[in-house]
Amino acid sequence: MISVILGLQFGDEGKGKITDFISRNYDDVVRFNGGSNAGHTVVINGKKFKFHLIPSGALQSNVVILGNGMVIDPDELIEEISLLRQTNKNIKIKISSGAHIVTKMHKILDKKEEEVRASLNIGTTSQGIGPTYEDKYARTGIRLIDLDDMDIVKEKVEIIYRMKKDLLNDTLYGSEEEREKMVNDLLTSGKEILQYMDYTEDIINDDYSRGKNILFEGAQGGMLDIDFGIYPFVTSSNTIAGAVSTGSGFSFRKVDSVIGVFKAYTSKVGSGPFPSEIINDNTLRDLGNEYGTTTGRPRRIGWLDIPLLKHTIKMNDVDSLAITKVDVLGRLDKIKVVTKYLLDGKEISYFPRRIEDFKRLEVKYEEFPGWGEINSSQSLGENGYAALPENLRNYIEFIEKETGKNVDIISMGEERKMTLAKQIFN
Ligand code: GDP
Ligand code: IMO
Ligand code: MG
Repeated sequence: MISVILGLQFGDEGKGKITDFISRNYDDVVRFNGGSNAGHTVVINGKKFKFHLIPSGALQSNVVILGNGMVIDPDELIEEISLLRQTNKNIKIKISSGAHIVTKMHKILDKKEEEVRASLNIGTTSQGIGPTYEDKYARTGIRLIDLDDMDIVKEKVEIIYRMKKDLLNDTLYGSEEEREKMVNDLLTSGKEILQYMDYTEDIINDDYSRGKNILFEGAQGGMLDIDFGIYPFVTSSNTIAGAVSTGSGFSFRKVDSVIGVFKAYTSKVGSGPFPSEIINDNTLRDLGNEYGTTTGRPRRIGWLDIPLLKHTIKMNDVDSLAITKVDVLGRLDKIKVVTKYLLDGKEISYFPRRIEDFKRLEVKYEEFPGWGEINSSQSLGENGYAALPENLRNYIEFIEKETGKNVDIISMGEERKMTLAKQIFN
């Protein structure tokens, strides 16, 4: 079985939790995009694990792979590996030789670029993601495989500096001595991670030939995709299922199923249009404890948005849906869902591409009653789908009808065990 799991909204849909839950069915779990802008939370018996670079399947699978599509901060990775080893000593970690390296200079550039963007700033995670992808596509990027060659790394850092010195000159890295120091530190951390380097595209394809089950775990969400999200308020990589091929070297033709994860409502960190946003009412943020895993920033909150979901379902060719945080949403007496977009008063059947259009966009809602607290046997899914509160089942069935996709996984709490899986995922 070859599956892809990814987020259908603005990130933080609960991908980490669902990935962990289903990963026991897979031998290898592969990340193919993003870097430590991702924050994926897994909770098992009260213990919280936060993954940024390592795939969230690392607690239940045999092998985790960080693909060439990723951008990796070595210091961050070393720390994460040492934490993971405390729980899963035997896990095999493989990192693509072609993954790009985030340096301290890239993190500074991230902040500087945001300053230059001024009113068009994105609200990035300041993890150096954008500048690292910029250098990848400028063909000046530092790859993992470069990290044992002092001359190459030094030369590349100098090229990047020359290209971006307007931004760097009033920072620490305006100084040649500091850049040299950074290169030396990078080579030291490089030594520690080079032991995990491999030609992972070969490993993944060989494992496929041997009949292994492989899960590809997306970071971010469909609305943050650089091509199909709300540009420019997006991340710097493709986050949709198509990125599996370019970000790991594994053909899209061999993928059996695409699982799309969405929150029962919507959240977003950073700037940009958010059609279903709830303004001036923090009830859902407080109930759902909606603060960023990576940055701690309060997340913007909105209702579930069906037109948005349909767009990302289409872009990802989703087969099956997983809904999270129904325990949180159900506590409200009245729940709204955005069902239609109107532009200049007329209903539109497409997702707007022009940022200006969002200013004139009106949304139509449908209202649903809440379902209250989910009791403990319901939240564990012990008695199956039919035992869930009727209002919750109505909510889920409405989403299924609107999207034309089955909701096969229902998450009712942060704990791994608070999950109900219909069908194959059991
Ligand atoms: P990801 O980036 O998509 O992996 O999501 P994050 O981990 O950044 O954010 C999701 C948050 O919701 C985390 O704190 C999870 O522990 C939590 N979470 C996931 N599923 C559920 C759920 O069904 N109910 C509740 N209450 N919390 C959940
Ligand atoms: P996970 O995998 C939520 C957002 C940032 C910002 C924009 C660009 O945990 O779902 P970047 O640092 O990538 O250049 O920021 O994208 N963003 C995320 N929001 N979850 C994420 O990852 C995100 N990764 C990036 O807030 O708006
Ligand atoms: Mg997250």
